[in-house]
Amino acid sequence: MLQGKHILLGVTGSIAAYKAAVLCRLLRTAGAEVQVVMTALAKEFITPLTMATLSKRPILVEFFDPENGAWNSHVSLGEWADLMLVAPATANTLSKMAHGTADNLLLTTYLSARCPVAVAPAMDLDMYAHVATQQNLRTLAERGVAVIEPGEGELASGLTGKGRMEEPEAIVRAVERLLAAGERRPTLAGKRYLVTAGATIEPIDPVRYLTNHSTGKMGYAIAGELAARGADVTLVSGRTALAAPQGVRRIEVLTAEEMYRAATEAFDAADGAVMCAAVADYTPEQVAERKMEKGDGSLTLRLRRTKDIAAELGARKGGRLLVGFALETHDEEAHAEAKLERKNFDFVVLNSLRDAGAGFRGDTNKVTFIDRTGRKALPLLSKSETAARIVDKIESLSK
Ligand code: C5P
Repeated sequence: MLQGKHILLGVTGSIAAYKAAVLCRLLRTAGAEVQVVMTALAKEFITPLTMATLSKRPILVEFFDPENGAWNSHVSLGEWADLMLVAPATANTLSKMAHGTADNLLLTTYLSARCPVAVAPAMDLDMYAHVATQQNLRTLAERGVAVIEPGEGELASGLTGKGRMEEPEAIVRAVERLLAAGERRPTLAGKRYLVTAGATIEPIDPVRYLTNHSTGKMGYAIAGELAARGADVTLVSGRTALAAPQGVRRIEVLTAEEMYRAATEAFDAADGAVMCAAVADYTPEQVAERKMEKGDGSLTLRLRRTKDIAAELGARKGGRLLVGFALETHDEEAHAEAKLERKNFDFVVLNSLRDAGAGFRGDTNKVTFIDRTGRKALPLLSKSETAARIVDKIESLSK
């Protein structure tokens, strides 16, 4: 996958810069050509000699060589690269990238790069969690920059939390996925899909609501994968913290009723739908107009059933493709098979909360495809790899 690929490796001034050496070696071993661009501060953390030796190319820091005046063209660097990877990416560099600052070679190269760009943040947990950093990461993600999320663990400050740069092996896998995504052919061009994702919110009063743990990650990964293969995608999304995947039309909703209306309307023009949302099955019978004040005794909420969006689309699907999800805690296969019939799905993606690494929140999933011909269990995969397998199956059924 990486054979002959040109990777521009941006290294910034973080203690995690030592991992950039391993990263560089791994990229080279996988067959990539690596050009390192460092910020001035990065040189304090890892020597240019180390990086130049590992990359087998002189590293670049300045706009020009002060000795002989040779110009380091950020434009031709941007053109040379198949992918630009900033690892480690400090809060400072992320902020400058988000704001278009161009005060060093790494940043001017970023601004002129036409290739995909990925960043692997590395910083202290509070800096990472700071609203300014999070806003910058969202801005970059919305512009198509792939953010390789940091892991949790012990940090250089001695504190423990999220901010530790992802391990080099995992960064290399992410780079491979990004390059593969760029090379995907538009096999679903001309097809229109609806994807529902995320959790709905059912208000109780102006302050409280009922919801669930869904983060929307799985549905967003599927919407992104469909779009990357050329499909026209409408994503009807409940509440999530995620940016809309590139090329996807997102309709944001709150309640199950709003999702029902948006999804049924989008389905009319679609060739198929993937029902990934965690829709509330019940909603309060009445929504109090004013905040409900507490009393001494217990409180009973009366709930009524919401509409089953998937079942409704299943009833009117005709020749269209309908994919459902089943998240189960027991009797998984039997429940998933019952849903296949009841909702008229073409296949069901089953995940069990009993499997480690499956279900909510995480970046991995372990699913089983269930259709009328049988079952196929997939191994534990990242959510984006799981999405690719689901879309492979959609593709094979859409022909
Ligand atoms: O019956 P259950 O909620 O477990 O079914 C899960 C499947 O049905 C998922 O694909 C989910 O997105 C979909 N669903 C829906 N509308 C509902 C409830 C579930 O589309 N009200």
